[in-house]
Amino acid sequence: MRHLLNPLDFTVEEIDELLELATDIERHPDKYAHVCDGKKLATLFYEPSTRTRLSFEAAMLNLGGSVLGFSSADSSSAAKGESVADTIRVISCYADICAMRHPKEGAPKVASLHSSIPVINAGDGGHQHPTQTLTDLLSIHSLKGKFSDLTVGLCGDLKFGRTVHSLINALSRYERIKFILISPPELRIPGYIRDDVLVAKNIEFKEVENLDEAMPDLDILYMTRVQKERFFNEEDYIRMKDCYILDKKKMKLAKDDMLILHPLPRVNEISVEVDDDPRAAYFKQAQYGVYVRMALIMTLLEVKRPC
Ligand code: NCD
Repeated sequence: MRHLLNPLDFTVEEIDELLELATDIERHPDKYAHVCDGKKLATLFYEPSTRTRLSFEAAMLNLGGSVLGFSSADSSSAAKGESVADTIRVISCYADICAMRHPKEGAPKVASLHSSIPVINAGDGGHQHPTQTLTDLLSIHSLKGKFSDLTVGLCGDLKFGRTVHSLINALSRYERIKFILISPPELRIPGYIRDDVLVAKNIEFKEVENLDEAMPDLDILYMTRVQKERFFNEEDYIRMKDCYILDKKKMKLAKDDMLILHPLPRVNEISVEVDDDPRAAYFKQAQYGVYVRMALIMTLLEVKRPC
């Protein structure tokens, strides 16, 4: 039995296969409408979510399966003090697969150790968010046609932004990828990504503060929200929350085919005036999230591809 806790749990070849399956699902959704008939997905969300939880649920429903779960820790027995280990033992009796989001780093990993069904990490604290990465990879592959020879700018809260950590992990496996890490000094990428991934794998990157200066070099700009819920004090959040705002003026500095991605939710970091720019791909990206989660559920449940 397999889990997905970190994007590196899949090899590059397995990711290719998954994205190919997701693309086929996008093109021929009817073919897949009953492949998970009778199967159940449990969504165990101890933290707020719109896209991740609902796209998981939509994905399972699109495959003919059904869904059950909770959308906040308050409405589960966690509020009574139940451990993740006990909860997953019980959920294993009710469902065939589960997606878990938790504020504590490593909680889905703990769940996987006590589970008899596949566990998908749907975001653990400020650590990792592998299914957002699969969504990002499908977006990049569909809209740019490649993963190599790209200069990728990651901008905003690189310290607490789990989507950034997972995306760097995943993209670091491709050829001639260059990262420009754009953040205030307080929100720089953590050491376990900077030193253990980028430096260790000899990947070209630079850490800068100025978005305008980075703009002309970028093939992809991945904007992120400042992660309010992970700050220890409100003053720091208020000081940093609007550190970058992508607007039409900044977009004039970008390449004509630069792709703007954002895992969403957006707060102020992308001005709504940018939404009409053909380079803005963040809503399309959210749509890709459903196809890739359909492909992931099929893969982990070892469901046969229909002919
Ligand atoms: C992200 C998350 O939860 O980490 N959202 C998402 O799943 N699309 C990004 C965020 O909350 O800023």
